[in-house]
Amino acid sequence: MSDLTRITVTGPEAYDVLVGRALLTEVGNSLPKTVAKVLVIHPSALSVSANVLRDELQGRGLEVLLAEVPDSEEAKRVEVAAFCWEVMGKSDFTRTDAVIGFGGGATTDLAGFVAATWLRGVPLIQVPTTLLGMVDAAIGGKTGINTAEGKNLVGAFYAPTAVVCDLDTLLTLPRNELLASFGEVVKYGFIADEQILHFLEEDVAAATDPAGPVLRDIIERSIRIKARVVSEDFKESGLREILNYGHTLGHAIEHTERYQWRHGAAISVGMMFVAELAHLAGKLDEATVQRHRRILDSLGLPTTYKVDRWQQLLATMQRDKKSRAGQLRFVVLDRIGKPSILTAPAPELLFASFQAVCE
Ligand SMILES: NC(=O)c1ccc[n+]([C@@H]2O[C@H](COP(=O)([O-])OP(=O)(O)OC[C@H]3O[C@@H](n4cnc5c(N)ncnc54)[C@H](O)[C@@H]3O)[C@@H](O)[C@H]2O)c1
Repeated sequence: MSDLTRITVTGPEAYDVLVGRALLTEVGNSLPKTVAKVLVIHPSALSVSANVLRDELQGRGLEVLLAEVPDSEEAKRVEVAAFCWEVMGKSDFTRTDAVIGFGGGATTDLAGFVAATWLRGVPLIQVPTTLLGMVDAAIGGKTGINTAEGKNLVGAFYAPTAVVCDLDTLLTLPRNELLASFGEVVKYGFIADEQILHFLEEDVAAATDPAGPVLRDIIERSIRIKARVVSEDFKESGLREILNYGHTLGHAIEHTERYQWRHGAAISVGMMFVAELAHLAGKLDEATVQRHRRILDSLGLPTTYKVDRWQQLLATMQRDKKSRAGQLRFVVLDRIGKPSILTAPAPELLFASFQAVCE
């Protein structure tokens, strides 16, 4: 296929991320030859396309099981994983069969976890259908489910065999979902690829049009960044931390808002906060702080938060699994494309940065 982009993720197990249009046929081509049976895990929003995928795979002589799972976070529950294991158990699903995660990040997180745990690991193809899934969740091998105590507390690092990003699936994605995912895309622009920011500044409508070429370019650039980072640091022991730009405060906001805010919206405020923090710490110039605000505003993403929540947010950030030995760590920018870590900034500096992003 001429219009196919192939981006390789290396590391403990190498795999390709394919990007293009009308790509559902590539799912079958990506399966290992030993596979006789596949389990397609998908939410109801994708049931029509899941049937198309099933027909395509059946046409190759494969046995296809469909598991329709609840929407969004409701899918990331142990009961839903158990439902998938039951479907596999009843159909004698062996180690040479394969799981396909077909949906947004919630679905691919669940599908990855099911694939990682069934018979201690079966082949997995991720087919993300949201912008966030394509540029983030489906790449890098982090899989997992939530528990009553918190999000993503149970899971495994488990590399897929391939990731297939069919850009046509984005055509049915609600506009608010698409725009929320831009939080992560803007993050890639600031930490690693200024061209992404130029695209958004030049023509935000073109940059967010799922049918157009600019968004494709942006998606491929974003995937290249994520692929490069996770290739070097599969288990998040170093470089991968830069992907948390905006996430320390962002996660605390998500927690405070009881996960009623979209992830991209929460990290949008989180990025504004660390931009202000880097500026007050003498690292980042004021113009780049304003550039964060302008770009995030142009996407309709929030750049302010509630002033009375600071103590609650601070306590949540201190409990964050990524703070080390009780010390707060923030990914900040020295300049665009040059992230660094700010450890244990002074409380007054943190509060002043927060005030700068308050309503
Ligand atoms: N594993 C990782 O590294 C990683 C990274 C980032 C996020 N995540 C996880 O990803 C999840 C969020 O992912 P998300 O933003 O994709 O949300 P999501 O999976 O909840 O999907 C958003 C909504 O869009 C619907 N949908 C999906 N594709 C569609 C399509 N093509 N057309 C119409 N509707 C469609 C879904 O059914 C859902 O209602 C969170 O659980 C988060 O923890 C994981």
